[in-house]
Amino acid sequence: MKKVLVVGGAGYIGSACAEYLLDHGYEVTVFDGLITGHRSAVDPRARFVEGNLEDRELIMRVCREGKFDAVMHFAAFSLVGESMQNPSKYFRNNLAFGINLADAAVAGGVERIVFSSTAATFGQPESIPIREDDRQLPINPYGESKLCFEKVLKWYHQIHGLQYAALRYFNAAGATGRYGEDHRPESHLIPIVLQAARGKRDKLMIYGDDYDTEDGTCIRDYIHILDLAQAHELALSAPESGHYNLGTGNGLSVKTIVEAARRVTGREIRTEIAPRRPGDPARLIACSDRARKLLGWKPQFENVEAIIESAWNWQLSHPEGYPD
Ligand code: UFG
Repeated sequence: MKKVLVVGGAGYIGSACAEYLLDHGYEVTVFDGLITGHRSAVDPRARFVEGNLEDRELIMRVCREGKFDAVMHFAAFSLVGESMQNPSKYFRNNLAFGINLADAAVAGGVERIVFSSTAATFGQPESIPIREDDRQLPINPYGESKLCFEKVLKWYHQIHGLQYAALRYFNAAGATGRYGEDHRPESHLIPIVLQAARGKRDKLMIYGDDYDTEDGTCIRDYIHILDLAQAHELALSAPESGHYNLGTGNGLSVKTIVEAARRVTGREIRTEIAPRRPGDPARLIACSDRARKLLGWKPQFENVEAIIESAWNWQLSHPEGYPD
């Protein structure tokens, strides 16, 4: 049985991946400092170590003692706006503390690291859909911190032989039966739309309807967290190290998401047009041919209503989010 250390396994995507690995026969240790993660999002079948990557001694010890075959790294801050206010927080946590993990993986004889990267490493895309080798020019410290860590992995592979996969998620969405999205504060479109449907918030503010798109609102590529989890598991046996864009390839506007959410929930969802949010590109759509070809990845949730429905079910069963 393969042993995997899931760093950030109490977070939104990390918890779903830990669950997926446990369902597929892996032995999982979750390492999480519970800064943005939730204790009750740690799968009870996993071993849990509470700690932060800032604690270099601790992560060194965990990796030396754990005899892990692989590490998955989800632990990051991911608020674009916050990164523009406080770049230090992003470069320290997402880059410097990430290096503690990479060093610990090397020292502990870990074969491979699978890293949560992001479409934000591309910045304003030069063409759509975005391919792995397209220009990467981040427009905020969040995206830059993730790109820097991709480069760390490339060099650690070359110098130390650490295998890696950098998975660039587009817009992660949806929930598994048990684990879902509970950011505080919430800034992501789908959970906010569903909170408006439940009456937990008054309305959705649509950030800009004057973009150069069909209906004037931004277009994104929403990918279910279970499909991301599948990609992580496949990346554990990837033939070579490298980068993969993960999205369905379907671009959907903010207004399309609201309409789909109205159909799924049968509820009224009030909206108001607000100014553009700084730093939002008009369109982000992935070309994921590389993951499909080299990893054998195939997203199961190609229909956005199914993605929204899973998030809706999770909100209904967790009206206040996680209890802790
Ligand atoms: N939006 C609204 N109103 C809201 C929230 C979002 O109109 O209340 C719009 C945004 O302007 C954007 C779209 O909905 O056009 C999606 O916004 P999200 O915040 O859900 O997602 P982003 O595309 O901004 O960001 C996501 C991740 C980032 C990552 C980025 C690119 O949250 O971490 O994808 O990968 F950097």
